[in-house]
Amino acid sequence: MLQGFGRRQFIGLMVLCGLTACGQSPEPQAIPFKPTASIHDFMVWGLEPAADVIWGNAGYIITHDGEQDLQPTTQEGWDHVRNAATTVAEAGNLLMMPGYAADPGDWVEYSAGLVMAGIRARDAAQAKDADALFQAGANLYSVCLACHNRYIIQVQQGI
Ligand code: HEC
Repeated sequence: MLQGFGRRQFIGLMVLCGLTACGQSPEPQAIPFKPTASIHDFMVWGLEPAADVIWGNAGYIITHDGEQDLQPTTQEGWDHVRNAATTVAEAGNLLMMPGYAADPGDWVEYSAGLVMAGIRARDAAQAKDADALFQAGANLYSVCLACHNRYIIQVQQGI
C-alpha cells in the first residue's frame, strides 16, 4: 500500500507535521515585540528627527542673501533623506502596533498615512526629485497635524 511512498515523502510529511503541529489547532505565534518608549518619547526621539530631515531638505528658505534651495546637492545628501524617509514610513507601521495604537480606527488610518507619505518621500529622494520631495513633505506635515488635531486636545506649537 505504501509502495511509492519513499523516504523523501516521509521526511516531507514529518516536516509538514512539524510546521502544522499535525492536527492540533495551531496556536498563533506570539511575536515578542514591545514598545520601547511612550508615544511622546517616540515622537520626539524617533519620528520627529526623521521627519525633520525630510523637511530640512525640501523647498526654499529666504535668507539674508536671498532664496536658498534646500534640496540635497550630493548623493550622500539624497541618501540621508532616503534613510530618514524609510524611518518615517516604518514609524507608521510601528504606531499601528498594539501598545502604540490608541484605537483600531482613525489612529490606524493616520498611521497608514505616515507610511504612505514616507514612501513618497523615499521615492522622491531616490529619483532626486526636489519637487516631489517637497510635495511628500507637505503630505507628511498634514498627516502629523491631522493626527495631532484628533488626539491631542491642546494643539501644540511647533509641530
Ligand atoms: C497616529 C497619530 C500621530 C501621528 C501620525 C503623529 N503623531 Fe505626533 N503625537 C501623537 C500623540 C498622541 C502625541 C501626544 C503624546 C503625549 O504627549 O502623550 C504626539 C506628540 C508629538 C510630539 C510632542 C509634542 C509635545 O510638545 O509634547 C511631537 C514633537 C510630535 N508628536 C511630532 C510628530 C511629527 C513630526 C509627526 C509627523 C511626521 C507626528 N508627530 C505624527 C500622535 C501622532
